[in-house]
Amino acid sequence: MLNLFDFEAAASRLVESSAWGYQTGGANDEITLRENRRAWDDIAIRYRTMVDVRTRVLSTTVLGSPVSMPILVAPTAMQKLAHPDGECGMAQAAAAAGTLMIVSTTATTGLAEVQAATPAPKWFQVYIYQGREYTRELVRRAAAVGYKALVLTVDAPTLGRRERDIRSGFTLPPGLHIANADHVGMDVVPTATADASGLMHHFRGLHDPSLSPRDIEWLRDLSGLPVLVKGIVRGDDAVRAVEHGASGIVVSNHGGRQLDTSIATARCLREVVTAVDGRAEVYVDGGIRRGTDVLKALALGARAVLLGRPPVWGLAVGGAQGAQQVLELLRDELDLAMALAGCPTIESITPDLVALPG
Ligand code: FNR
Ligand code: LAC
Repeated sequence: MLNLFDFEAAASRLVESSAWGYQTGGANDEITLRENRRAWDDIAIRYRTMVDVRTRVLSTTVLGSPVSMPILVAPTAMQKLAHPDGECGMAQAAAAAGTLMIVSTTATTGLAEVQAATPAPKWFQVYIYQGREYTRELVRRAAAVGYKALVLTVDAPTLGRRERDIRSGFTLPPGLHIANADHVGMDVVPTATADASGLMHHFRGLHDPSLSPRDIEWLRDLSGLPVLVKGIVRGDDAVRAVEHGASGIVVSNHGGRQLDTSIATARCLREVVTAVDGRAEVYVDGGIRRGTDVLKALALGARAVLLGRPPVWGLAVGGAQGAQQVLELLRDELDLAMALAGCPTIESITPDLVALPG
């Protein structure tokens, strides 16, 4: 395995086809899915020379938690579809790589069980369920068992139209369930129908499509935890989030799985960083597959990047160990990119390193 794409190819041969369609696909024509990648490719690196790069230091902090590199594991739902190690395996992989995992609300393992798998710092991704009492209980439990922050996803008031999943009738196979929804009395993804996947029904039936910026304050006050807001692609939305108490912004279009033809994250990161103006940490995800992509994201002002699909490919290929290999591979690529770009430290990755297209 030389790069992340090798893991993708290997995983595609191992994962059952409807689960693979779910894990890999995007909304509608998958234009944003492709553009997310292309947008990183379109940015050129203005590398520095004649810099002493004998040692490179990749470590940094994310909302105060030390991490060995600016590469985190994004929240991805239902990881047991990839491998029986599931979310616990992913948490162990992130811990072994010295980095942080964001655990999805829609996980196939309950949040306390994932936390028990390793004491390494984790964040909990929140989907707000209708009838706020369930969410209140869930985030209090997350805080009580030791999660360090909440990540409120705001780009999915309802699920995007993923035609692969509709065609395949995607739902969870017997034996797996959405564990955090146990307490809502619906522990499995509902049956797929001709016009909607099981997950689409799950979202429509349970999730609250009426989010407002006040929910950021609500979650923060309820849990006592810092709140990041994930799914932002505009400066004005980021400012609204910060004004309502967000400690972090994740520039994301959900990996092209929600609104197709939405702007690629590499093309709106700078706008968000400028608007936030240091009042919160800014993260980015979507199509990050190379160490050079990470370098570009940091140059544009991201504190760290999140990887969505690649750790899932790693999990599919080799369980916890496979997911760790994916993280180590990208670490090595970032280390090399920093050496060749004349950047011995994370702080030396500055905006002048990139030339934007146009
Ligand atoms: C996701 N994503 C996601 N986001 C979220 O906030 N909660 C979730 O439960 C999920 N679930 C999920 C499942 C799968 C299979 C994928 C591929 C993605 C979105 C994810 O956090 C992230 O934003 C994107 O995946 C980033 O893009 P890349 O790295 O996959 O290109
Ligand atoms: C997804 C949801 C669960 O992208 O966030 O599939």
